[in-house]
Amino acid sequence: MARFAGRAVLVSGAAGGFGRSIATALAAEGARLVLTDRDEGSLEALAAELTGTDIATLAGDVSREATASALVDLATERFCGLDIAINNAGIAHEYRRLQEISAEEAERVIAVDLMGVFFAMKHQIAAMNARFARDGTKAAIVNVASVAGLGGAPLLSVYAAAKHGVIGLTKSAAAENASRGLRINAVCPSFARTAMVLGAPGSLAGATEPSEAEQKIVRGIPMRRLAEIDEVVTAVLFAADPANGFMTGAAIPVDGGLTAI
Ligand SMILES: NC(=O)c1ccc[n+]([C@@H]2O[C@H](COP(=O)([O-])OP(=O)(O)OC[C@H]3O[C@@H](n4cnc5c(N)ncnc54)[C@H](O)[C@@H]3O)[C@@H](O)[C@H]2O)c1
Repeated sequence: MARFAGRAVLVSGAAGGFGRSIATALAAEGARLVLTDRDEGSLEALAAELTGTDIATLAGDVSREATASALVDLATERFCGLDIAINNAGIAHEYRRLQEISAEEAERVIAVDLMGVFFAMKHQIAAMNARFARDGTKAAIVNVASVAGLGGAPLLSVYAAAKHGVIGLTKSAAAENASRGLRINAVCPSFARTAMVLGAPGSLAGATEPSEAEQKIVRGIPMRRLAEIDEVVTAVLFAADPANGFMTGAAIPVDGGLTAI
């Protein structure tokens, strides 16, 4: 039987690189989906493509608490609750030294990447705890952090601060909820071929062409390449898998060995 058959799973950032592939893989494994993204057109196009399972969509901005509560309400109405939440939506700022980052840019990255995960977990955990108390249903949350949450990231300092914060939220909430049938883990990818990386304006450490930026990135990675989207999706589904029942509070690098050295 498929790992996620019949499970109600929320995916944020579902119209983007990782989110789209996570949603597609979950649909193929029988999950019922609540999909969200701020890009309503791409979200609806994805929902139309994914046939053979129940899908609810709600476009919104994850940096607003109202979005987080509306998504949990939607999962409750459509699927009688939420079994798994994958908090994946995120943004990066332009590659800049810390002192060159504007307050507005920093606040936006913190609002989306850190407060967005805080609001999401706040409402998801409350609903998951209530259901566990009612009928013993176990649940899982997977936060898509980054290797920039495990160590410094030159020219991405505020993004790194937000992702460190996501790992702090993950570990703390995992400990708070471990006895309530709820596992909470973070997946920490290094650079992968999504719009966030390939479409990034500016440059990495002075590189002027994306290919040059890519070379600079991969030089520091023992596997000497970027991650493939499917490799990150595999780790996200592993963390979400109900059979993976004893893993909680983990921050799992998916990084070609970057943090091993
Ligand atoms: N691509 C990488 O190399 C990489 C590496 C490490 C971590 N990550 C993380 O993975 C996650 C997904 O990134 P991706 O590479 O797929 O990026 P992406 O830009 O391809 O997709 C991100 C999606 O999130 C949505 N989104 C952005 N801000 C939002 C908001 N405020 N509210 C709702 N939706 C919003 C976008 O519309 C987009 O569809 C992010 O949290 C990112 O930080 C990416």
